[in-house]
Amino acid sequence: MTDVLLSLREVSRRFGGLSAVSGVSADILSGEIFGIIGPNGAGKTTLFNVVAGYFAPSSGTVFFDGANISGKSSDKIARLGIGRTFQAVTVFQEHTAKENLRRAAMVSRRYNPLVYFGTRNAGVEPDVLEQMARFTGLQHALDSRAGSLSYGQQKMLGIGMALMGQPRLLLMDEPAAGLHTSEKKEAAQLIRRLRDELGITVVLVEHDMPLVMGVCDRILVINRGVPLALGAPDQIKSDRAVIDAYLGEEYDFA
Ligand SMILES: Nc1ncnc2c1ncn2[C@@H]1O[C@H](COP(=O)(O)OP(=O)(O)OP(=O)(O)O)[C@@H](O)[C@H]1O
Ligand SMILES: [Mg+2]
Repeated sequence: MTDVLLSLREVSRRFGGLSAVSGVSADILSGEIFGIIGPNGAGKTTLFNVVAGYFAPSSGTVFFDGANISGKSSDKIARLGIGRTFQAVTVFQEHTAKENLRRAAMVSRRYNPLVYFGTRNAGVEPDVLEQMARFTGLQHALDSRAGSLSYGQQKMLGIGMALMGQPRLLLMDEPAAGLHTSEKKEAAQLIRRLRDELGITVVLVEHDMPLVMGVCDRILVINRGVPLALGAPDQIKSDRAVIDAYLGEEYDFA
């Protein structure tokens, strides 16, 4: 049997009279790349905020690795091994890329350089920051001020910072938004390598359909907070309700 790493059971979140997330259930398997898609305002980021402990659910339960984490603080949830990247760039512009990575590691308080890279390079002194920079394609940018990096590089740095907390599960909120075509391809590769090389389970929120359909094992579609469909990319592409609510008839997946 495959392990369920993250389980959402009827998760809802209201803001006053608005049901931003309403009765969302899903089991995300360990080692899966799991997509969440839906129109603007569908509740995707709100769902991430609930899982990561920024908001408590109004009702429903979130289980991580079998433990009920509903309503725990974001700090505690991060330390349990759930990382996240943000829809907007959130790096410290005045600091170098290296300082941003180091700061993220210190903040996470789970830092142990041996875990990811040291053990893979027995005998080599583990310079984790450089390894992380290489992993995210920033090896030539480590000493540059983050604010001087391209938008795409800043987003990569944001991913690197999330990785410094050594998450088992990474929630990625629109990693490809604002990237050029070639950068999107690199982002897709990076997402696969997170899973394949680091063993991280990924939940991906993204509007770029070729990317989502290309990297995800399964996809959950939500619309106005309500789950609409859950299945493999091929099923989702041809789902009538999903086409009507989000994808549109003319969508070209080539
Ligand atoms: N802190 C908040 N207070 C009040 N309403 C909020 C809050 N956060 C989100 N909402 C509302 O909840 C709904 C869902 O928003 P959310 O940001 O989760 O959508 P989304 O699916 O991430 O959209 P997008 O694709 O545009 O990023 C929206 O109507 C939004 O205005
Ligand atoms: Mg969002």
